Amino acid sequence: MDLKKLIRNLPDFPKPGILFRDITTLLRDPQGLRYVIDLMTEECQSLTPDYVIGIESRGFLFGTCLAYNLGAGFVPVRKPGKLPAAVHTMEYDLEYGTDKLEIHQDALPVESRVLIVDDLIATGGTAAATAELVEKIDCVLVGLAFVIELKDLNGRQKLPEVPIISLVQY
Ligand code: PRP
Ligand code: ADE
Repeated sequence: MDLKKLIRNLPDFPKPGILFRDITTLLRDPQGLRYVIDLMTEECQSLTPDYVIGIESRGFLFGTCLAYNLGAGFVPVRKPGKLPAAVHTMEYDLEYGTDKLEIHQDALPVESRVLIVDDLIATGGTAAATAELVEKIDCVLVGLAFVIELKDLNGRQKLPEVPIISLVQY
């Protein structure tokens, strides 16, 4: 299946000069949704994570399905002020701005094997900040998986030396 045919491209969103890769058109397609989750599952199976960490908000959509398929648990990394218990916070740069991400301090048992999932890697700032949060809670990062990778932005260079999976590259 050609996933690129199901991903919509929108110029100048949310800011001039950004070509937005819209996954809502992929998610609404029943065969496309099944295919993307099954493919991600296949590619991540050998990493044997105990937990999948999904990044708010689009990472939740793929991360939860993936965790279910892998027989792993799911843990959210959220934008500031959303998690109710004590958190660790990490600031990061976006392709279009800056933001912060948080994880519950007691989210996982120490030394858990963790796979980070998001819909897309652009500059890598979001994923790198999440990898730092994994370190803060003393867990073991076994890999990162994305549906889409924007290769020109070299996001991989910001990430630790673990397997990095992407299903579609632009
Ligand atoms: C988007 C995307 C990734 C991040 C990638 O999220 O879902 O999380 O940007 O960019 P980076 O590699 O340059 O850091 P966004 O912050 O727009 O939030 P959303 O998922 O809630 O729309
Ligand atoms: N997040 C960061 N850059 C993006 C892009 N070009 N399209 C969709 N989501 C993004």
